[in-house]
Amino acid sequence: MAGSEKSGEALAIILAAGLGKRMRSDIPKVMHPLGGIPLIRHVLATAGATTTRRAVVVGPGMDNLESEIKNQDPTATIHHQTERLGTAHAAGTARDAVSSDLDFIYVMFGDTPLMRSETVAAVGSALGEGPDVCVLGFRTEHPTGYGRLLTEGDRLLAIREEAAASEAEKTVRFCNSGVMGFRAEHFIDLVDAIGNDNPKQEFYLTDAVEIANERGLTVVAIAGDESEFLGINSRAQLADAEAVFQARKRREVMNNGATLIAPDTVFLAADTEIGRDVTIAPHVVFGPKVRVADNVTINAYCHIEDAAIGAGSTIGPFARLRPGTRTRENVKIGNFVEVKNAKIDAGTKVNHLTYIGDAEIGENVNVGAGTITCNYDGFNKHETVIGSGAFIGSNSALVAPVTVGEGAYVGSGSTVTTDVPKDALAVARGRQANKDGWARAFRKRFAK
Ligand code: UD1
Ligand code: CA
Repeated sequence: MAGSEKSGEALAIILAAGLGKRMRSDIPKVMHPLGGIPLIRHVLATAGATTTRRAVVVGPGMDNLESEIKNQDPTATIHHQTERLGTAHAAGTARDAVSSDLDFIYVMFGDTPLMRSETVAAVGSALGEGPDVCVLGFRTEHPTGYGRLLTEGDRLLAIREEAAASEAEKTVRFCNSGVMGFRAEHFIDLVDAIGNDNPKQEFYLTDAVEIANERGLTVVAIAGDESEFLGINSRAQLADAEAVFQARKRREVMNNGATLIAPDTVFLAADTEIGRDVTIAPHVVFGPKVRVADNVTINAYCHIEDAAIGAGSTIGPFARLRPGTRTRENVKIGNFVEVKNAKIDAGTKVNHLTYIGDAEIGENVNVGAGTITCNYDGFNKHETVIGSGAFIGSNSALVAPVTVGEGAYVGSGSTVTTDVPKDALAVARGRQANKDGWARAFRKRFAK
């Protein structure tokens, strides 16, 4: 995302210490996945595109969340809020990150993952025109649960939380997204002036608006699209957000040149990369870390995660590509084939009913129906190597570690336990015996 979206020296304070009680979960709310990656990663990406520094407020015992933050944004500082006393208290926890050289501070919520960086950047542009505080709002037919923005002309007078709102205020459909921008010099003063004189005795960051107005500061609200500000407090809201995310991502891959025959049945991850002239049939699921090169066809009912698919390849129907699958150009993976941690070189075909795990397969190999790489001995995983031009007959078991040399043949129904030399034929099965007339005699014995 463009650096031009950053204006001045700006700090994003991301609040993510909440317990997310309404999720009824043992993991922090912001670690729940949307588009296959944790909520917090979406917010860090938006914050990273719109600010020069990030500070994240987390709760105690959220070790996985902390490592996720460090991986995603190594320069972000992490702050601990030990007691959940409200959003203003949480924001104050990050005060060490507030240095005097900052121009702007944005507070964002870790549970609002659909915000676009362009929209957040608009808060910076608005502050650039003079106001001291700018709140990003959205208009909705379903305002229940959100803080209401009470405005007069361009000015924002107050944010009223649902619990404190009068019946008249509850009819207001202009809501707080959670993104609040401040001129940095006012931030700590405002946060410190917020009290907890409300039924829940929480320190609400939203009270900063009324306090700023009392101090004669200028507070404005700008509006973004409702679809960007779904706050996730429950599993149902997580599902609603997933639907918005999927619709957006499907548009993105179609705009980049992929055909989705039934877009609503294709599920993508946030990091799915799809090339040009790729056709995706109905009912295909992409987990995280999938790259699909140009001119690939993915037939119906495939499940693909952490895989790279080379140009011109055909996958499925009913194929499962598991983590570590790497195919080169013009590979064919057919129906009821499972591939895991395997490199498959150009022009190779694995067309039917096969398991390829922990393998390296050369170019133009033909893997027959029902081939199994026996990669696991109950303790360790072992590798199968198949050289270029080899032909594996149907219903073969390749007991790893094992190598089938270049250009070698494996006879159908073989259980291969030792390496097969280049250009050799391996036959490892019982020799066939034909007993003339046996069947006729058998039938005669039992016929009534
Ligand atoms: C909040 C806003 C509301 C807004 C809505 C948008 C307040 C008081 N209310 O309500 O105006 O319309 O978001 O989605 O700000 N958190 C902490 N520590 C705390 C409390 C919260 O880190 O002590 C974090 C949570 O992890 C969450 C965020 O702050 O990421 C918002 O808290 P939440 O309880 O979800 O607020 P809402 O009720 O959704
Ligand atoms: Ca929330």
